[in-house]
Amino acid sequence: MSASRPAAVIVLAAGEGTRMKSRTSKVLHELGGRSMLGHVVAAARELDPARLVVVVGHRREQVVEHLGAHAPEAEPVVQETQGGTGHAVRVALERVGELTGTVVVTNGDHPLLRGATLAELVRVHESEGNAATVLTTPMPDPTGYGRVLRDSGGAVTEIVEHKDATDEQRAVTEINVGMYAFDAARLAGALKRLTTDNAGGEEYLTDVVGILRGDGLRVGAFLVEDWVETQGVNDRVQLAEARRRLNDRVLEGLMRAGVTVVDPLTTWVDVRVTAEPDAVLLPNTQLHGATHLAAGARVGPNCTLTDTRVGEDAVVVNAVCVGAEVGPGASVGPFAYLRPGARLARGAKAGTYVELKNSEVGEGAKVPHLTYVGDAEIGAGANVGAGTIFANYDGVAKHRTRVGEAAFVGSNSVLIAPVEIGDGAYTAAGSAVSQDVPPGAIGIARGRQRNIEGWVGRSRAGTPSAEAAERSRARDSGGE
Ligand code: UD1
Ligand code: CA
Repeated sequence: MSASRPAAVIVLAAGEGTRMKSRTSKVLHELGGRSMLGHVVAAARELDPARLVVVVGHRREQVVEHLGAHAPEAEPVVQETQGGTGHAVRVALERVGELTGTVVVTNGDHPLLRGATLAELVRVHESEGNAATVLTTPMPDPTGYGRVLRDSGGAVTEIVEHKDATDEQRAVTEINVGMYAFDAARLAGALKRLTTDNAGGEEYLTDVVGILRGDGLRVGAFLVEDWVETQGVNDRVQLAEARRRLNDRVLEGLMRAGVTVVDPLTTWVDVRVTAEPDAVLLPNTQLHGATHLAAGARVGPNCTLTDTRVGEDAVVVNAVCVGAEVGPGASVGPFAYLRPGARLARGAKAGTYVELKNSEVGEGAKVPHLTYVGDAEIGAGANVGAGTIFANYDGVAKHRTRVGEAAFVGSNSVLIAPVEIGDGAYTAAGSAVSQDVPPGAIGIARGRQRNIEGWVGRSRAGTPSAEAAERSRARDSGGE
């Protein structure tokens, strides 16, 4: 039997998260290029719930704005004061109105939990016909968690919070992860009967278990062996652990799909990144956002790529790329900076100390050394000499430069935009080019050289330069 579509998933995200010591809401802290809440929402979406409700409270403006941007289908429900997890769910259900079927509740601070695990929880819940099913795990150090108590038949009798537990109960290592599937009507009924008669002085959602059980209903448990997946994040130490584990998961997925990761310990890849088989990641590389690597692309060492597409067999070394496109067989770096709108066509090159912004480099064209290219179009097969500056900004506005097909820009040229170097045209090294150069012409825009014979001997007499010049003169005349 497969799981039905839940009537609702309710995500609890109203807590203060004091231990993060942050201006930012705890659930908005990021790992793998997504907020914690974003991960929980992504898992919830895999259940395709009819309603996705997020209970917000502390820093709710931030959370609501974030949901608006990343999960517009989510319905935020405000819990004015944080009266506990049971209170939070009660407030949510009161807002949502009567539901029938399965309601899933999840904490907003468990970013590693997979959608597939939630789906399995729902499946077990429905196939066992439970009033409630609790996701549990054997936690090596269960301190702080609610303990799951079972009867001899294995059914759950009660969840005791750490604070309220006896020593004997604290010895139990099976914990409540904070994810549940409930029968909607049973849940609503039990929530009305919660009290605040406990060590926390709050309405505990976990008390619903004892109440349903007291009504003679069955409460089940779905035990996840891999406790790592169920880990919650309460402070930045746990956030770092969760980030590392999520990264391990992402890298494992890539490697199993045929991507080489030379050093998983220094390679960080966001969850939305995609890569084709035979792509290679070299040490100290970070891939962010919607970056994509085609087959055989080699990235690293020491690269940070954000929202960048790297084509088949392209090579990117020691580079920072943001919103860039690197064509098949193209080469970038070492020490290159590709900014938004930088596009290298097939076989093109952006080499050492090269910065590119909003510019296209045509097929096979080369920008090998020490160059700034802004707002330009460089034709196929063109060569841009070392130290060329595309002066695109006149202090007020940006202008475009076009370098034609197979053109040759001499070293240390300044191309003062707007300007056009025609197809097959040259510029002389050291030129400050402010006028168009027609196709096939050479543009020379620099002072003509003049040599003053004997100047060093007269004006710098006695210096090593003057002495070297004198020796050279003597050798030359001696040889005649
Ligand atoms: C809760 C469980 C505990 C479980 C643990 C797993 C209860 C009473 N206890 O404890 O059994 O082992 O999670 O992590 O449920 N929240 C609200 N409104 C509130 C209070 C909390 O939205 O009024 C949210 C928090 O933002 C958080 C989640 O509910 O996302 C859990 O709250 P938290 O205070 O962290 O519960 P724990 O004490 O960890
Ligand atoms: Ca918690």
